[in-house]
Amino acid sequence: MSSHSIAGEQPDYDFDIVRKFSVMTVIWGVFGMAMGVLIASQLVWPGLNDLLQPYTHFGRLRPLHTNAVIFAFGGCALFATSYYVVQRTCQTRLFGGILVPFTFWGWQAVIVLAAITLPMGMTSAKEYAELEWPIDLLIAAVWISYAIVFFGTIATRKTSHIYVANWFYGAFIITIAVLHIVNSAFIPVSLTKSYSAYAGAMDAMIQWWYGHNAVGFFLTAGFLGMMYYFVPKQAGRPVYSYQLSIVHFWALISLYIWAGSHHLHYSALPDWAQSLGMVMSLILLAPSWGGMINGIMTLSGAWHKLRTDPTLRFLVVSLSFYGMSTFEGPMMAIKTVNALSHNTDWTVGHVHSGALGWVAMISIGSVYHLLPVLSNRKEMWSVGLINAHFWLATIGTVLYIASMWVNGIMQGLMWRAFNADGTLTYNFVESVEASTPGYFVRVIGGAFFLTGMLLMAYNMFRTLSAAKEASAETSATADARTA
Ligand code: HEM
Ligand code: HEM
Repeated sequence: MSSHSIAGEQPDYDFDIVRKFSVMTVIWGVFGMAMGVLIASQLVWPGLNDLLQPYTHFGRLRPLHTNAVIFAFGGCALFATSYYVVQRTCQTRLFGGILVPFTFWGWQAVIVLAAITLPMGMTSAKEYAELEWPIDLLIAAVWISYAIVFFGTIATRKTSHIYVANWFYGAFIITIAVLHIVNSAFIPVSLTKSYSAYAGAMDAMIQWWYGHNAVGFFLTAGFLGMMYYFVPKQAGRPVYSYQLSIVHFWALISLYIWAGSHHLHYSALPDWAQSLGMVMSLILLAPSWGGMINGIMTLSGAWHKLRTDPTLRFLVVSLSFYGMSTFEGPMMAIKTVNALSHNTDWTVGHVHSGALGWVAMISIGSVYHLLPVLSNRKEMWSVGLINAHFWLATIGTVLYIASMWVNGIMQGLMWRAFNADGTLTYNFVESVEASTPGYFVRVIGGAFFLTGMLLMAYNMFRTLSAAKEASAETSATADARTA
């Protein structure tokens, strides 16, 4: 494995692993979002389910989409940025030797196995934890190695304090290990089939304790780590308030873990547990917004940079969507609001304002910051393409979430409309028919977002190949000199 050292006085950082994970972030982003556009299209043109029956059925490709975007795209972005940030802020090389490439190849193997087994219909049927038990064991091995590499690097740091971004990455790594191991407790019956170790309402509670904290720690805490490093770096300003970042950290991690039961309102779960989830979700608004404000205010004195720097725009707009989805989430956690929103497209819209607007945009911004650094260049091959990507992503996200709000509220109202004699005003199929225009708009929004990712992939390969050519030229000149 090659390593890279910039300017003589800096430690011999391992940037090769960061580059590998960054490249795979973009590749899996294209793949996962193409799956998203395909399943979105299936909801408009059902014939697309039959492309390759039974493998391309919506029920099989939907979990492939969620696994590909969350764990492949989001996961690679988290590995890439955490490995970069922990080295730079601890001023030391990654700890762990062979474990470092193992986390890369092991994680890619998990994703490839997911892409094979899910279309084949092998699933544990637990949302966001669908993979069968042998793959779960591989995930556990990779994750424990990741923890050793990350915390080993912190332990061998050359700096006295631990920068706040690492606190968020560290909390994400520890919590995901606990969640994954507890929620994946299974009784295997064959190599490809297992049953959950829990039953009934208990199984549901464990699943949504896992599911919600997958949102809180996989889709939020790790990305807040990104925010605390890349927003100040790209803006060229220090974090707005270091004190606020500490309060933000402790408040967020101590509250998130209690909120999972808002996914089980009006279910067989004890009523007090549902109310607890609702109250904790409402309180969660405060640290979420505290963190967002800390990120946005970091731009004080650097607002003008937004006019010329599309990478910074990605980072800042992601924070606006973070604020929006963390306002919407607590509202949806109120039981009477959830009575309308649950099971409708409103939830799907909420998910994607977080997923596209927050998770994808902050990852894209961070990777645009990283690629030139990793290629010893001042900027990406084309800044114009980053700008085009920014607009495609923003318009795509807005089209996606606006159409799902309209659909969701309409569905909720149609399902609860009664005639004077107590019969239902609409049957279910009528609500599906009424949703079709919204589904069509979502396909357009998704296609915008995906096109932006394709531009990013092209820009990335041009940037990396230009860097390769430049380094080949430099070594040829050096060879000629020594000859
Ligand atoms: C081109 C972009 C995308 C498109 C077109 C898209 C489309 C879709 C569609 C059609 C569904 C199924 C909705 C349903 O069952 O009714 C879905 C579900 C989901 N997607 Fe995406 N998606 C995209 C990007 C992403 C990204 C980047 C993430 C995460 C980082 C993500 C996370 C999810 C999640 C978590 C669900 C499950 C939602 C739920 O169960 O409520 N998606 N997506
Ligand atoms: C304070 C923050 C948040 C709170 C309190 C919250 C609350 C909620 C609520 C009440 C639901 C609907 C549950 C249901 O009716 O089934 C939900 C669904 C969801 N939220 Fe959030 N949310 C927050 C932030 C976020 C963020 C930032 C993301 C993504 C990055 C996100 C991703 C999701 C996902 C993936 C689901 C769908 C789960 C499923 O049914 O498959 N949430 N959230």
